[in-house]
Amino acid sequence: MTTRIIATGAYAPEQVITNDDLAKVVDTSDEWITKRTGIRERHISSGENTSGLAVKTARQILERAGIKAGTLDLIIVASVTADYSTPATSCIVQKEIGAHNAVAFDVSAACSGFMFALSIADKYIKAGVYNNAMVIGAETLSKIVDWSDRSTCVLFGDGAGGAYVEKSETDGIIKEEIGTKGEICDILTGGYTACSNIFSENNDSTDNLWYVSMNGREVFKFATKSVVKSVERVLKDAGAVPGDIKYVIPHQANARIVEVISNKLAIPYEKFYINMDRYGNTSSASIPIALNELNEKGLLERGDRILLTGFGGGMTWGTMLISW
Ligand code: UT7
Repeated sequence: MTTRIIATGAYAPEQVITNDDLAKVVDTSDEWITKRTGIRERHISSGENTSGLAVKTARQILERAGIKAGTLDLIIVASVTADYSTPATSCIVQKEIGAHNAVAFDVSAACSGFMFALSIADKYIKAGVYNNAMVIGAETLSKIVDWSDRSTCVLFGDGAGGAYVEKSETDGIIKEEIGTKGEICDILTGGYTACSNIFSENNDSTDNLWYVSMNGREVFKFATKSVVKSVERVLKDAGAVPGDIKYVIPHQANARIVEVISNKLAIPYEKFYINMDRYGNTSSASIPIALNELNEKGLLERGDRILLTGFGGGMTWGTMLISW
């Protein structure tokens, strides 16, 4: 028995901000951003919060899967930019779509979030606890990005993507792994809120680390190392070789990271599905948005072997080999 992706969906805010638009607010250029990252534009919310993007994605997935919300067993939303600390974004999705019989919770694993959420859903389904799940990655990173910091603000975008998965006797998730390396968690941080209250020594929270802060070079090194090792392990465990794979859907952070990974794994760059040029890095939404695009374009055929792999804050990584 396995877990099969039945339908995908995605949504990104309408407003598109180009590299040239950013060059008007920080000291940067289209040339620098394109050359160093492969990003040309990104969708930025004009006010709609993370739950709004997640709900639109969920509705699209339900329609495409041809199921009623009441039949959902589990809803997991991965996000580092939830509307609230509580309720979870998944609970807002549950309410808005009317998934009265589901259990809903969020996971926080930054850009690997969708991989973590899908891994959890897979485990519940394979254990026979639930028959199906809706898994969504949704982010409004624009609210935790320092728009005066050119080293980070050019990288990120807003969006959501997800999938409906079901118990299956045939094709589906073959092998997966998720991992963390908390020892280096401080190389990529964001969204810190200070413990400030009327009894604390410091009730001034203005010096907090709300904005995304990153040691780009260290993250780059971690990304290439962790993804390569993770993909090698998953392929080995599955008894598969790179030649078996039709598409790799990597986390859409930087085209140069993908080039390094492609070279190290000896998987041709053309097999990597790239859309960061149009979305930037949407953290937990990046892999499902890319997966949905591949699916919408009709590029996936039943039985195709596809590999999803990502890395992110935490530091975290996750890889999954799927028979479509
Ligand atoms: O989901 C995980 C999220 N994070 C990542 O995946 C990030 C991984 N790291 C990276 O993608 C890259 O390290 C960056 C794209 C963030 C940076 O690229 P880099 O080649 O490592 O550049 P750098 O940080 O070494 O900076 C090179 C130069 C510096 O100037 P100096 O010191 O050489 O004069 C920076 O100040 O580029 C400068 N710079 C910029 N210039 C124009 C940094 N950001 C910009 C910018 N526009 N936006």
